[in-house]
Amino acid sequence: MRRVLVVGRGFFGGLVAARLRDVGLTPVVVARRLGDVRMDAEDEASLRGVLRHGDVVVDTAGPFAARTTRLVRAAIATGCDVIDLAESLAWSEAVLALADEARSAGVRLYPACSAIAAVAGASVVASGIATPREIDLFLAPASAETASPATVHAFAGSLGLPIRTLRDGRLVKVRGYTETRAFPGGSRRGGLVENSGALLLRGSWPSVRRAELWVDPNTPLAMAALSLASRMPLAAAVARWAATHVDARPLGRHDGVFAVAVRDERRATTLTFSAPRRSYLIAVEPAVIVAESLARGASPEAGVVLPHEQVDPDVLFERLRGLGILIEIRR
Ligand SMILES: NC(=O)c1ccc[n+]([C@@H]2O[C@H](COP(=O)([O-])OP(=O)(O)OC[C@H]3O[C@@H](n4cnc5c(N)ncnc54)[C@H](OP(=O)(O)O)[C@@H]3O)[C@@H](O)[C@H]2O)c1
Repeated sequence: MRRVLVVGRGFFGGLVAARLRDVGLTPVVVARRLGDVRMDAEDEASLRGVLRHGDVVVDTAGPFAARTTRLVRAAIATGCDVIDLAESLAWSEAVLALADEARSAGVRLYPACSAIAAVAGASVVASGIATPREIDLFLAPASAETASPATVHAFAGSLGLPIRTLRDGRLVKVRGYTETRAFPGGSRRGGLVENSGALLLRGSWPSVRRAELWVDPNTPLAMAALSLASRMPLAAAVARWAATHVDARPLGRHDGVFAVAVRDERRATTLTFSAPRRSYLIAVEPAVIVAESLARGASPEAGVVLPHEQVDPDVLFERLRGLGILIEIRR
């Protein structure tokens, strides 16, 4: 059995470690402060002192937009596989640039192995649409729990600022949250947010012309306020500051939804994952499935593992249903 390290002991790091224990593993929680072992993911000496050849590393140390790839490069040099929960487009871009090095070293890298982009990738595979043209991701997080510093930083970073999104088959700049789109079923709207799926989903399916993420913060009045603030630079700056300095969890909701709408020229399929509580497990389970299989000896091809091959949809959907997640597929 390979050693599994969970880097970061915030909200998602704690959940990944708990789920790994549920499936019979004994993860080592690695953090800058409290944790089984101390490690700063941005400090080379600290990384060298902790990482060992053969480790499976699950990196949850967000916000990833504020990180460098020091950990990934140290893992390649040491011979560790890395699964990350990144949401950041720039982060995934930097991981993709290390693909050849990882392949030569026999190391596997799973960027954004979370709702974005592993669940999205598994959903496109399950849709049966082989050459998708458009992929829309919709997220309304269980904000009463998930509005942690790193997660809020990740979404607030798009507010009113130029972001990159995939349109006409290339990354173009638009202003975050200025555009909104109705969720499948029309019950709510989300604002446009930069995310790693734009790059990684296009990597899996070169036919994709548009891949975008729409986020409803799932906190009363927040969507209307964000969409208004995104058009006023000063208000946007104040809202970005407030989002990262004020704990919004007391105002948040416990229910959550993640949906994936896939289209080609002839067909459309929507997969909706939801739960009245603990919907955040949707984002945790892909990394748990991958870490477990690597720890127990699976040996997939080395290099960057893209969303279409990170997790088997049947395995993922069965696990999620077992965890109380409702999955609806509309064709
Ligand atoms: N792609 C997706 O679908 C998806 C889904 C869910 C979450 N995420 C991402 O996952 C990340 C984690 O979210 P969260 O809610 O768990 O955040 P969180 O509660 O704020 O926790 C972040 C943790 O990372 C640790 N950390 C940051 N930099 C570190 C470093 N250099 N070395 C070691 N530890 C470091 C922090 O440690 P300290 O306490 O020492 O600061 C903290 O414990 C976020 O970036 C979020 O956006 C992505």
